[in-house]
Amino acid sequence: MTSVNILFQPVDLGVIKLANRIVMAPMTRSFSPGHVPGPDVAAYYRRRAEGDVGLILTEGVSTNTTTATGTPNVPNIVTEEARAGWKTVVDEVKAAGGKIGVQLWHEGPFRNPSKTAHPDIPSWSASGEKTPGKPLWAPMTEAEIETAIVEFVDAAVAAKALGFDCVEFHGAHSYLIDSFFWAATNHRDDRWGGPDWKDRTAFACEIVRRARAAVGPDFPLLIRLSQWKQQDFAAKPAATPDEMLAWLTPLVDAGVDIFHCSQRRFWEPEFDGSDLNFAGWARKLTGKPSISVGSVGLSGEFTAAYAGEESEPTSLDRLVERMEREEFDLIAVGRALLQDPQWAIKVREGRSDALMRFTKDALATLS
Ligand SMILES: Cc1cc2nc3c(=O)[nH]c(=O)nc-3n(C[C@H](O)[C@H](O)[C@H](O)COP(=O)(O)O)c2cc1C
Repeated sequence: MTSVNILFQPVDLGVIKLANRIVMAPMTRSFSPGHVPGPDVAAYYRRRAEGDVGLILTEGVSTNTTTATGTPNVPNIVTEEARAGWKTVVDEVKAAGGKIGVQLWHEGPFRNPSKTAHPDIPSWSASGEKTPGKPLWAPMTEAEIETAIVEFVDAAVAAKALGFDCVEFHGAHSYLIDSFFWAATNHRDDRWGGPDWKDRTAFACEIVRRARAAVGPDFPLLIRLSQWKQQDFAAKPAATPDEMLAWLTPLVDAGVDIFHCSQRRFWEPEFDGSDLNFAGWARKLTGKPSISVGSVGLSGEFTAAYAGEESEPTSLDRLVERMEREEFDLIAVGRALLQDPQWAIKVREGRSDALMRFTKDALATLS
């Protein structure tokens, strides 16, 4: 069996030092009644820190109490109660020797107003579209864009004050920030949209630039990106490495430290003619550290898991191979760590017989 040592080597990424290469992927759990993470949420994250996860990224956390949130029981980082809850989470993780970053999330066009406490408030996105070409709401106004930016920045500042080790902006999976990146859902002809990546990245860049100014040069800012969209798994907004460079360069200039590159299967090459995956290209094109993700250690992929598909534990050989050739710096693990807080320890100790299958029952508890 291939040695998994590479996964457990400490890493100094300049902006952050980690005990190993394993990241807990952000996973919405909907266990925060009143949008406040309670002691059970703190204990859940603490168990992953005790389980030798190098960096925990929290579930998506709402940046306001109205337009950002549509999923029930999702925590925010806006109210005093929620901030106090996060302080406990951070303290618990640190007491266990772990590191933790918060993922800042605005659901954008995936918020269904009728299922929220504010049904009269329309949802926000670049051009008011969830399905490309079929607007449900008006495009965001200039004032709304300004508000959304300020809310992301305020949330980042709050996260730093609470003791989080880093912040990740959720710029993937078709949510608010991604609605600006993707030309199919951004038809604006002002400074926030257009045929050039420079304009479609302007919203994310303004968030990152102002957050960077507010949190200072040493606080790590991550952004999560995906080519795939919830509306279209095969979407590829950056069809070539040159386009990907046009997408990522403004983000680097704005102050992004680490790219978290979401794929459903980490081993899939991003472009023809090279084996490099999405995170591999991000690292190669920008020189910045990157995080890969997608079906690590499990036979099925995560969107099928929502539909009830169960997954068997699988070999990590392909992962080890890519990490040994330094394709990317860190690997995020979702369901395997949701199912089993001890997953990393079992992998390190070679206890493959003890690795667990992923079942949808795991989604129903906060174990
Ligand atoms: C229950 C669940 C909730 C998720 N919630 C989020 C989220 O809040 N933010 C996010 O960026 N990705 C979210 N994801 C995607 C994961 O971060 C990860 O990219 C995906 O599960 C693939 O990793 P895996 O195959 O190791 O599970 C979620 C996935 C699952 C299974």
